[in-house]
Amino acid sequence: MAAKEPLRVCVTGAAGQIGYSLLFQLAEGNVFGRDQPLILQLLDITPCLPALNGVVMELQDCALPLIRDVIGTADPLVAFKDIDAAFLVGAMPRREGMERKDLLAANVKIFKEQGDALDKVAKKTVKVLVVGNPANTNALICSKYAPSIPKENFSAMTRLDQNRAQAQVAAKLGVPNGSVRGCIIWGNHSSTQFPDVSHAEAEVDGRWVPVPEAVNDQQFLRGEFITTVQKRGAAIIAARKLSSAMSAAKAACDHMHDWFAGTPAGRFVSMAVFSDGSYKTPEGIMYSFPVTIENGQWKIVQGLAIDDFAREKMDATAKELCEEREEAIAACA
Ligand code: NAD
Ligand code: LMR
Repeated sequence: MAAKEPLRVCVTGAAGQIGYSLLFQLAEGNVFGRDQPLILQLLDITPCLPALNGVVMELQDCALPLIRDVIGTADPLVAFKDIDAAFLVGAMPRREGMERKDLLAANVKIFKEQGDALDKVAKKTVKVLVVGNPANTNALICSKYAPSIPKENFSAMTRLDQNRAQAQVAAKLGVPNGSVRGCIIWGNHSSTQFPDVSHAEAEVDGRWVPVPEAVNDQQFLRGEFITTVQKRGAAIIAARKLSSAMSAAKAACDHMHDWFAGTPAGRFVSMAVFSDGSYKTPEGIMYSFPVTIENGQWKIVQGLAIDDFAREKMDATAKELCEEREEAIAACA
């Protein structure tokens, strides 16, 4: 069989800590498949070019079979040229005591500039995943400044939160991580997010049962579980003095993998995507929903029951996203 044409994949912030964890997984074939050749187009800022050059050398030295070329640059027009997929990681991370939205003024301008560059040189079919915080609002701004690329091609990462929720439930039940599925993250990748297990299932003693039934501890699921997931990023910063990187890179790979490969029948994943008003959310914010994916197109899962507890939490995180949107638009003006 003839070899596939290489995909052009951009990673921004490629000299940073998430970049260092992400690039190897990507280059090995964990995201686009082990038969998919890749051209990696790596972006960082000029002062970090020497470090980026070191990363490029290391990628070369891995002698990985899928890598056709690795380009390191500080020019977004070079990094985004003809790309099929972008991991927009490059941005300032928060430090202890900050909320992610405290990064808004500093980071949102990066995404305005990068939206503009994507608009000029990326393929119109490019799939853009924003990881840099505040991820939802950065993705919104990036798309706003790339009007020739469909809005559906932009998303922000809440997969790390989904993975955290899954791992917390698995630990509570004493089952392997693979025995929990269907955890949903609603809203913002922030401390207002709503990790929701009311539609999740767990495999206990060989049988898949609803998580609320398996855990049988409503107080935990509506209390400690939610706050643990909401505050996990801060807990990692407090412990490492650096924000999460290995788990963030893994989640970015999971997100992009599923966007390209699709979700298995009957399963969904959480992604922050443009709200179309589903579940009475304000239209036009980047809100995390459960989605199914087929042929590279995501669709918001419809018809899930939302009780009063969930409604209140979903509205609170939507309100924060609307406020962030106003602030970001003002910062870019
Ligand atoms: P880091 O400081 O280690 O690396 C960031 C890199 O981005 C640096 O090399 C920096 O030079 C580069 N950079 C800055 N401005 C840039 C620009 N305009 N263009 C290209 N590159 C640029 O940070 P990190 O730990 O890798 O985190 C990166 C971002 O990801 C942060 O904003 C962090 O908060 C966010 N993050 C998000 C999630 C999530 O779940 N969405 C999880 C973890 C971290
Ligand atoms: C995380 O969730 O770990 C990241 O968004 C980093 C942070 O600032 O919390």
